[in-house]
Amino acid sequence: MTTNTQVLLASRPVGWVTEENFKIVNAAIAKPAEGQILVRNHYLSLDPYMRGRMNDVKSYAAKQEIDQVMVGGTVGEVVESKNPKFKPGDIVVGMYGWQQYGCSDGTGVNKVDVSRVPMSAYLGVIGMPGVTAWVGLLDICRPKAGETVVVSAASGAVGSAVGQIAKLKGCRAVGIAGGQAKCDYVVNELGFDACVDYKAGRLNQDLMAAVPNGIDCYFENVGGEILDAVLRRTNAFSR
Ligand SMILES: NC(=O)c1ccc[n+]([C@@H]2O[C@H](COP(=O)([O-])OP(=O)(O)OC[C@H]3O[C@@H](n4cnc5c(N)ncnc54)[C@H](OP(=O)(O)O)[C@@H]3O)[C@@H](O)[C@H]2O)c1
Repeated sequence: MTTNTQVLLASRPVGWVTEENFKIVNAAIAKPAEGQILVRNHYLSLDPYMRGRMNDVKSYAAKQEIDQVMVGGTVGEVVESKNPKFKPGDIVVGMYGWQQYGCSDGTGVNKVDVSRVPMSAYLGVIGMPGVTAWVGLLDICRPKAGETVVVSAASGAVGSAVGQIAKLKGCRAVGIAGGQAKCDYVVNELGFDACVDYKAGRLNQDLMAAVPNGIDCYFENVGGEILDAVLRRTNAFSR
């Protein structure tokens, strides 16, 4: 343990994010004060919302400040504790951002059990993306066995969980993804019934063939022409 490598937002991107928008610095590792913990981050999450936070606009969440550590979910190990709720060795999920070590009073930091699942799963299928898929599909869409569930960005963090949950509920799961390799993964590894490669240039025809009984539930991740194509195939009472 020598320094704390951090990634800061150096400038606000216009369009695509580039390396120049970030700055890597080696800061001193914080010394936890009374009531605080020091956490060594093992994994950090990279999520679509981060791009929005880089803009200087009003949003549902505070913007990412320049020259500050990039925001982000993390999972790591408590290495020092002056907080009775935590002890060294505890594995915790928090929002320490893009840095090797995080120090805080433990607010919003949760201990997790890694005896049965890998630590990284707490940022994936049993973390925010998995919960997003679970709540969106089961609480909002409420699919019934035998119905057809379509999800866009099907090979992504949220989409991959949506399709797998749909299969567990006895539905026909159809993904939409960009490229044959992603579609092969969605069908052969994730177990979806079908996947439409929207980059192949036949989105409407291929989607029609993949959903012979129409679409009952659509889990929307991308918008644009994919949403338009899906809306053409939705059944009465679809959601
Ligand atoms: N991750 C979370 O915990 C979380 C929580 C709440 C909400 N969300 C929202 O859920 C959605 C999916 O998030 P995610 O974390 O699963 O994302 P992800 O794993 O990063 O996947 C995003 C995928 O979206 C597809 N995509 C991007 N731009 C596109 C475009 N213009 N047209 C069509 N497809 C496009 C790409 O896949 P292809 O190559 O297949 O096109 C890309 O890989 C996002 O809208 C995100 O804001 C995510």
